Amino acid sequence: MPAPMRRREFHRWAQAQALAMALAPWQQLLGQTSGPERRWRDDPFVLGVASGQPRADSVVLWTRLLIGPQDRLVTGLDPAQVTCEVFADEALRQRVWHSEITTDEQRGHSVHAIAQGLAADRPYWYRFRCGDATSPTGRTRTAPHAQADVRRLRLALASCQHYEQGEFVAHADIARQALDLVVFVGDYIYESSNPRTAVRKHTGAEPKTLDEYRQRYALYKSDPHLQAAHAAHPWLLMWDDHEVVNDYANDRDPRNTPLAVFMQRRAAAYQAYFEHQPLAIGPDLASPWGASMRLHDKWSWGCLADIWTLDCRQYRSPQACPDPNRGGGRVVTQCAELEETNRTMLGSAQEAWLYEGLRQSTATWKVLAQSTLMCPTSVNTLLGRATYTDAWDGYPQARRRLLQTLADGGISDVLTLGGDVHMNVAARLRLQANDEGSPVLASEFVTTSITSRGLSESVLNAARTANPDLVYARADERGYALLDIQAQAATCEFRSTPYPAGSRQDLSLQARFQVERGRAGPLKL
Ligand SMILES: [Fe+2]
Repeated sequence: MPAPMRRREFHRWAQAQALAMALAPWQQLLGQTSGPERRWRDDPFVLGVASGQPRADSVVLWTRLLIGPQDRLVTGLDPAQVTCEVFADEALRQRVWHSEITTDEQRGHSVHAIAQGLAADRPYWYRFRCGDATSPTGRTRTAPHAQADVRRLRLALASCQHYEQGEFVAHADIARQALDLVVFVGDYIYESSNPRTAVRKHTGAEPKTLDEYRQRYALYKSDPHLQAAHAAHPWLLMWDDHEVVNDYANDRDPRNTPLAVFMQRRAAAYQAYFEHQPLAIGPDLASPWGASMRLHDKWSWGCLADIWTLDCRQYRSPQACPDPNRGGGRVVTQCAELEETNRTMLGSAQEAWLYEGLRQSTATWKVLAQSTLMCPTSVNTLLGRATYTDAWDGYPQARRRLLQTLADGGISDVLTLGGDVHMNVAARLRLQANDEGSPVLASEFVTTSITSRGLSESVLNAARTANPDLVYARADERGYALLDIQAQAATCEFRSTPYPAGSRQDLSLQARFQVERGRAGPLKL
């Protein structure tokens, strides 16, 4: 590590080294393919292109070759040599970066390129070529320098896109917006089906193996609206549970599957996730079962915002007081386990990393992009307070530690962004929830789902009535949230369409909220 390298630079350097080391054995083993240009019978770029993880001088570019049945018959297909090119202009005349990448069946023919040495805070265009095939062109951008005097950050917050439960029209709307980032906080694929609510069908059974997860991703990635949103903007990605299986927690699934069997499934799911997303780092193959993958990270948008993408699945304690016949989340009353102080949502290492980062941050806005709902939604019943255990309500001591860190450090202007619960939420977060005497410490916005079905109004109404800190909650529409973060205020627009989202539906403004700098809590506009 060069002596003058700062922490962030080291982090980037380490990422690049890790990727280079991961790729090196393959490149040595497989050598460079040369000879006549490969002629494709089927377009190998039908899964589109994507970019993500923008830094001030780099961005990750992704595609995956989908080998059609006619091309599978061609001998000498592997390894495939793919060229990635980055241009400074939309007309693709000024090529500023390019790289030759070798891929093969072992990595699902996925292609990850880290374009480096780019200029800060500007758009770029990119494409891939392989033989006589050329991919669609994507547009991306770099982040501003860490200390740059940035005035504005526009991002789309999205989650929960069950393929069967609607068309991805929300992504068509996202693709049309002028945005800096898309922040996707989980449930990118669904492993399960519910035929009662299907407007289109998954192909294949519930995925459990790497090949089955690859097929599920290929189905989702074939959607033209999803491809458009990826091609239009760089994404920051966080996963939730359905990328593996509903309600899994760390090394446990709700079916109480034996550890070794479940961890092999988790390894397959994480590998497939990496193969289909613009990510610099994949699974840690040295970890047990190769089933660990660091996804949480911190992103800077000049002096305006620091963004933490937080992993709420991989390191969490199991849900408290589970049904003995079925693990996972459920509604419980009189569950003493909930209040155990060692229960964690993020895991101790991620918690310590986050708290340290929050204390050190000098950015105006501190943005926590995480998977699920932080504001309480529990309700009083004759049996006591009824609490849903899969969201932060199931981890009250972990939530308290986070909010106490904000209070103790005098850390203000914190926005928490979430998904998972299939409803639009604007909420106040305080140490003593729903207590007017307890100061509001952070402002929460949760996006509804892209397609997945929401809660019934009667359930939601009970939660609203019992929790005045839930300023706004609507579960009847599908869509996403548009955040416009500026120095003096951050606004959140919920853009949505009735359920189920059909191919001819447009999104419209459902509600708009603002958080003023120095004054936590969303205000309706
Ligand atoms: Fe979901």
